Amino acid sequence: MTKPSNNRRQFLKNASIAAFTVGLFPKSVLGETQSTQQTMACDVTTKDYYGVGPFYTENPPVKTDNQLAKSTEPGERLIISGRVTNLDCTEMIANALIDVWHANDAGEYDNTGYNLRGKFTTNSQGFYSFETIRPGKYLNGSQYRPSHIHFKITPPGKDTLVTQLYFKGDTDIDKDAAASIKTGNFDATHRIVELTKNTDGKWEGTWDIVVDGDGKNIGVQDVHLDKGVIYTAQPNPFEDEVEIRYGVFNKTKVGIMIYDIRGQLIASLADKELEPEKYSAVWKPDPSTPPGQYFVAFKVNDLQVQYLKILKI
Ligand SMILES: [Fe+2]
Repeated sequence: MTKPSNNRRQFLKNASIAAFTVGLFPKSVLGETQSTQQTMACDVTTKDYYGVGPFYTENPPVKTDNQLAKSTEPGERLIISGRVTNLDCTEMIANALIDVWHANDAGEYDNTGYNLRGKFTTNSQGFYSFETIRPGKYLNGSQYRPSHIHFKITPPGKDTLVTQLYFKGDTDIDKDAAASIKTGNFDATHRIVELTKNTDGKWEGTWDIVVDGDGKNIGVQDVHLDKGVIYTAQPNPFEDEVEIRYGVFNKTKVGIMIYDIRGQLIASLADKELEPEKYSAVWKPDPSTPPGQYFVAFKVNDLQVQYLKILKI
């Protein structure tokens, strides 16, 4: 299916897809009669002013283990993950190529080999994730560039978007010719993401990428927002088991599925018609289940309306 492209920067999307942490309780559950309809911006991912820059090396290795940095790489560990959607954020794009490169902890690029360079692919659900280290800073003239990761993003059959990702709180952003841009084609505002430190000591950031591409519909029809929502998945990160608490507001078929980073279905915790009620499901994976990123998908009538990232340590 081909969707028309356009250049509008602002779209509206259904908040139930990504913003599970904001109050998504339909008002009916809170004792009010009017149902809620939250919307949030769907910001098309912009190019970076500096383009590809001087340090790209062709034909980086394809990474299948989601590890960009070796375990011995000096620096603070960092996990970046998110989803890739089409321009109005209604379709998840599978098999998009995510080509990543960045400087090491000392601010140096490997220009002879492929250290901290690699290609990842979004899974069948449109998710990507990789673990690396926080990039060091390097001088650009007399000014340090803020810590950044370079990206080339190529959805199947579409043009490549070349851009960079920055991190909130970096004091060199305001002085940087690219990262400081707040309007126009090179607006970096939505490419400056917050990093939080997980309980396992790794920094983690979420970056959702919005590009021209064809994906599969993930079910943003308004009707589904009122039918249910995941409240929490705790603890997260988890070691042995994670409890997923969710609510169903109208009698409907609900699915709670666990996917791995490759989009393989790992567990189905619910898949049946449920009465309006609060529910809890526990995923206690087999001990042989490898640590890493997993996704909880909340489905209503087989359409995915929400997802949560969970980390098994
Ligand atoms: Fe760079």
